[in-house]
Amino acid sequence: MTPRYAAPRQTKLTIPELAELKHSGRRIVMVTAYDAPGGRLADAAGVDVVLVGDSAAMTVLGHESTVPATMEELIVLTRAVTRGATRPLVVADLPFGSFQVSDESALENAIRFVKEAEADAVKLEGAGRSLSRVAAIVGAGISVMGHIGLTPQSATALGGFKAQGRTAEKALQLLADARALEAAGCFSLVLEAVPAPVAARMTRELSIPTIGIGAGAACDGQVLVWHDLLGLYEGRSPRFVKRYADLAGEIQRALEAYAKDVRAGSFPEEQHTYSIPDEELALFEAALQESVHPRED
Ligand code: KIV
Repeated sequence: MTPRYAAPRQTKLTIPELAELKHSGRRIVMVTAYDAPGGRLADAAGVDVVLVGDSAAMTVLGHESTVPATMEELIVLTRAVTRGATRPLVVADLPFGSFQVSDESALENAIRFVKEAEADAVKLEGAGRSLSRVAAIVGAGISVMGHIGLTPQSATALGGFKAQGRTAEKALQLLADARALEAAGCFSLVLEAVPAPVAARMTRELSIPTIGIGAGAACDGQVLVWHDLLGLYEGRSPRFVKRYADLAGEIQRALEAYAKDVRAGSFPEEQHTYSIPDEELALFEAALQESVHPRED
């Protein structure tokens, strides 16, 4: 099949175009980002979807889990990303507590992401009670990405950070949840830590694109967390992470070299400094001299 959108895009990816990618067979590339430079770099690399994940709580805010992320924090980060990423679809993650209470508060928070942060869509975790949240948000005209399998906001209830859907019964439940989310109006679904054959079957059964993270190669697309992909996260990474760079090492080396130069007095050099005309400098010195030792006329 001829891949679509092989050339760099000029305009923002739309939801219908994302749906077409599933049918064209061209894999969807999604990555998280949390600031304007990240959004710009993802855009320049031709990424299709940028997720401002609640993983920000761990990757940039230093928390132990995603649970403490707040709407206020994610709005600031999402607005920064939308300033940088103009062509990818930017999806903002509804943090824990922002959609659990009621359909109304879920909708209010989704609207905040669109109005204040200029997000193109929102993502929320889970099925069950999340279904009516999805329907309420989609009903108001905001696109929703679902997220099932390992859902970090409820990792404790799921028995920790481990793969989901590893028995026939659990795999059937995952598929039922996926179908229900599709029926509720999700335009796409993240499948996290799901056995590859189960995710492959789910991908065939659904008409919306699946985006895998630890869910095998048969999903319609893949997502990785920025810090994992680039080797910026110091903590333990899950087995599904592939590191494409060691930026933490690079940054460490650069900072150590800078510290060494500053201490040795070898930075800044001539080319890093500004000059002043000799006559102005002489006037400056003379004026200072005059203020220290005034002439007595
Ligand atoms: O918050 C996040 O980064 C996510 C991805 C792992 C899908 O939800």
